[in-house]
Amino acid sequence: MSQSNMFILMVIIPLILSQSVRGKDCVCELQSSDPAFPENKLLNVEFTVSQCNGNITSEKMTEIDSLVLGLQQRIWQLLDNVSMLEKEDNGNLYAAVSLRIIELELVEIQDLLNKLNRTTNKYQLLSEQTSAELQDMEDTMEELEKFDHTQVMLKQRENQRIKRDLERCKDVLNSTKPAPTLSPGHCGLGRMVSVSGPRTYSLTVYGTSYPYGAWGRDANPTPGDENKYWLVVLSSSIVHGNFIRQYGTLSTLILGIGPTDTYISSSNPTTNTIQGPNMVMYGNALYYNCYNTYSVCQFNMTTRSVSTVALPNDAGYNNKFPFAHLGTTYIYTDMDFATDVSGVYVIYASTSNFGNVVISKVETSDPPVLSQTWSTSLHKKTVTNTFMVCGVLYATRYLDKEIEEIFYTYDTKTNEERYDLRIHIKKMQPNIKYMNYNPRDHLLYVYSDAYIVTYETMFQEVQ
Ligand SMILES: *[C@@H]1O[C@H](CO)[C@@H](O)[C@H](O)[C@H]1NC(C)=O
Ligand SMILES: *[C@@H]1O[C@H](CO)[C@@H](O)[C@H](O)[C@H]1NC(C)=O
Ligand SMILES: *[C@@H]1O[C@H](CO)[C@@H](O)[C@H](O)[C@H]1NC(C)=O
Ligand SMILES: *[C@@H]1O[C@H](CO)[C@@H](O)[C@H](O)[C@H]1NC(C)=O
Ligand SMILES: *[C@@H]1O[C@H](CO)[C@@H](O)[C@H](O)[C@H]1NC(C)=O
Repeated sequence: MSQSNMFILMVIIPLILSQSVRGKDCVCELQSSDPAFPENKLLNVEFTVSQCNGNITSEKMTEIDSLVLGLQQRIWQLLDNVSMLEKEDNGNLYAAVSLRIIELELVEIQDLLNKLNRTTNKYQLLSEQTSAELQDMEDTMEELEKFDHTQVMLKQRENQRIKRDLERCKDVLNSTKPAPTLSPGHCGLGRMVSVSGPRTYSLTVYGTSYPYGAWGRDANPTPGDENKYWLVVLSSSIVHGNFIRQYGTLSTLILGIGPTDTYISSSNPTTNTIQGPNMVMYGNALYYNCYNTYSVCQFNMTTRSVSTVALPNDAGYNNKFPFAHLGTTYIYTDMDFATDVSGVYVIYASTSNFGNVVISKVETSDPPVLSQTWSTSLHKKTVTNTFMVCGVLYATRYLDKEIEEIFYTYDTKTNEERYDLRIHIKKMQPNIKYMNYNPRDHLLYVYSDAYIVTYETMFQEVQ
């Protein structure tokens, strides 16, 4: 190895010089504003390599012989490449190209050394040392690259960067395709263009005690209840709830003044109490996943009685098909309830639909009844929440701690499915545990790591 590096040294120095003074028949004046070529650095690299080489071969490394052989082969190849280029020297590109080749070779050598590092603990220290040395060499080579007068490599890198930027631009352009039109005849909303806010953001009277919960306004209130707000916290194991708290107004909810609690049961959890956060209030009844079953519960706030309807028996429950993203599962979010102007829906996944989302309309009779059902291709565990607007299902995913993205829609009127929305929601806390649209005020009600948040949905008329 030391031999080959000696060779590199000898090759590079002449070529750098020749590059500056080469001309045809004319006399060239050497005018260089650049600093002198740092020959001593190259010498250092060469010295280090020979030392590394000495240190490695002085050990009896039977298991890693092949790796070392590979390493040696790379070095010999490097030697070949350089000597070949020397013969084919055809002008200014020479320096740039040869430096580029050396750089590529060093990357490969680094790879081999990484493998070497992994091979045995016994040689870990040694290989760590050599890796560090090679890192130094790479750094030095990068520095040497600054003496690349033709700037070829810099331009090449810039091109790569510009290409990448261009691809990103294209992505963004494509992503600004408009959302589906929300059957203007029926809802008169046009299409959703953005979500703004948060409009309100606060803790509840419980502080940060309960990371899972739900809240909102009745989407179809009985007369006299129009201003009421409801709140349910999952107070047992962050999965189960047994009572609904109501406030007269939004400000009393935020201040925690004058609540009314309505209990489904005095114990928690038990038959027909609440499991998972994604419930809704509609027509003074709460719709939710009943404890430990694949059934929908309807709790009549007036009579305090529960009626149920079962989902298909292969529907996910008890944490089988929860909402999730790569890092996190939102536990017991198998069933998501949603309200829009036409009523209540339940969103879940089933084995027969391969864990993908299924939407069923819930008729709000007593007992409730499931009517129309739609099967989508949206895998439930890649989604963090859903909501419905005018018969269109919207699904969100986790982009990062600050942004949740509405990326998917399913139109239950046309059965059209789209994965190309890029409507962003600015988060105040990393995880959205509950989200529902209220057709009365066009707000999204969100429960996010114990905080209650609202967002405005913006629509655009379509001519
Ligand atoms: C090689 O080994 C010697 C003696 O152990 C040590 O001083 C030197 O730093 C090592 N060189 C490299 C490049 O690892
Ligand atoms: C270097 O030379 C080897 C043959 O020794 C050849 O296979 C390889 O493609 C050359 N690498 C470059 C970057 O030209
Ligand atoms: C070598 O492997 C160890 C773990 O086995 C790791 O901690 C170390 O960072 C590695 N060194 C290099 C230079 O990759
Ligand atoms: C953008 O969308 C057009 C039309 O659907 C498609 O042909 C093109 O490949 C897309 N470009 C990118 C970068 O996704
Ligand atoms: C709840 O009970 C009241 C009183 O019996 C009834 O008028 C109302 O329709 C019930 N609500 C539902 C959703 O069944």
